[in-house]
Amino acid sequence: MSSLQQPPLYREPFRPQYHYSAPQAWLNDPNGLVYYEGEYHLFYQYHPDSTTWGPMHWGHAVSPDLLHWETLPIALYPDDLGTIFSGCVVVDAQNTSGLVPGGGLVAVYSYHTQTQGVAYSTDRGRTWTKYSENPIMPAVARDFRDPKVFWHAETGRWVMIIAAGPEIHLYTSANLLDWEPASVFTGGYRGGVWEVPDLVAMELNGETHWVLIVGVSQDAPSGGSGTRYFVGSFDGQTFTDRYPDETLWFDYGPDNYAGTTFFNAPGGRHVLIGWMNNWIYANEVPTSTWRGVMTVPHDLSLAETPDGIRLVHRPAAELETLREPLGTWQDVKLEGDWRPGDVTGRVLEIVAEIEPGTAETLGFKVHAGEDGDARIFYDVAKEQLFVSRPGAGVSNFNRLFDMHVPLQDGRIALHILLDEASLEIFTADGLSSFTAQIFLDPAQDGLELFAYEGTARIVNLAIYRLESVWPQAAE
Ligand code: FRU
Repeated sequence: MSSLQQPPLYREPFRPQYHYSAPQAWLNDPNGLVYYEGEYHLFYQYHPDSTTWGPMHWGHAVSPDLLHWETLPIALYPDDLGTIFSGCVVVDAQNTSGLVPGGGLVAVYSYHTQTQGVAYSTDRGRTWTKYSENPIMPAVARDFRDPKVFWHAETGRWVMIIAAGPEIHLYTSANLLDWEPASVFTGGYRGGVWEVPDLVAMELNGETHWVLIVGVSQDAPSGGSGTRYFVGSFDGQTFTDRYPDETLWFDYGPDNYAGTTFFNAPGGRHVLIGWMNNWIYANEVPTSTWRGVMTVPHDLSLAETPDGIRLVHRPAAELETLREPLGTWQDVKLEGDWRPGDVTGRVLEIVAEIEPGTAETLGFKVHAGEDGDARIFYDVAKEQLFVSRPGAGVSNFNRLFDMHVPLQDGRIALHILLDEASLEIFTADGLSSFTAQIFLDPAQDGLELFAYEGTARIVNLAIYRLESVWPQAAE
């Protein structure tokens, strides 16, 4: 194919229009999420030489609004100690490390050998210097990686949370360089190793609770890798799980992994971005010159529920700035298949509230066309939401997923985000989120709602097209 026939960058088939993906080549975990001097930084696991996983670098992008990202040069290259695995970045405003006079950014990351290293930047993350005494920590386990560091004001110490096989280890430090073991947390799960932990202090009704978020590399409920969370307390040394008899899942879809929150997000927000993929097929998904994409930013908070304190997810409000309204509908009878006027599209936001009435199932067909569709359907009697997606020429891809979504005031209310190759669902109460890649024929853009075996009623429906965040390439 001559270059004239190639689609412009960020307009290729399956290219996400409002999710971050690298201009080309392989990407996995988000790393070093930090807000600093007016910019959100997104570093990420990056293999610049191929569209499959390989020797890891840290790719880098910055954004003023979590949506419009500018890709910058690679931040961290492999060195004599190894390739650069996942890790974090903190703002060392007081120069506790002695590495950033006047304040700057300090990255704490793993080498592939499972030792830990430090790098620093005094020019707003544009250039990075590796610490001369690396590694700062030896590998204490065969799998010992993905440090996440935060400042614990009460004890005046930095705290590191790091995965060690199927355990989480905590360390403390005064200077980001010398780390003392503090405690070990085991959550009673034996499926594979744990990866990419995060520990986040969140307020609820004037009290602080700590949420531990952790990637489980195998046997998650949607198959393969998935994300768990724990709610508890933390005293600067030890995390204590408040619900040790329960297993809480962060997202019920197959494709939200290795998520981590921003250090220093403005307004005390807790914003998480995940890698929208799953290790069981990540190296095979059918994109062309790039492979790997991030989830939308999730705004996290806590809620008190009859079952206890739970995480609440909202798509970051910034997404609303991309909306182009296509229509609203109220009080529409739903019986069989129904099309919302002449609305079609692959890059859409759908906000819907439906009363099931007598219907046994109801839902949405998206990216619909001759080759089928991805389907979101609600089993009213079971109060269970199912999502089916067709195969994508990829092993383990074609599956039926489900998540429990109780009716609220006799209604089901969903917030659905569709991009060229993904489907993200947030429930109205925010207690469940569902993230899945979907690869339907790029020409298919049909959208239908349906109610079967009875009649339902659309109470409210709003549909928006979401504007691309990528500049139109010059013709
Ligand atoms: C998680 C992970 C991390 C590791 C990185 C390597 O997806 O396996 O544990 O640091 O990816 O790219």
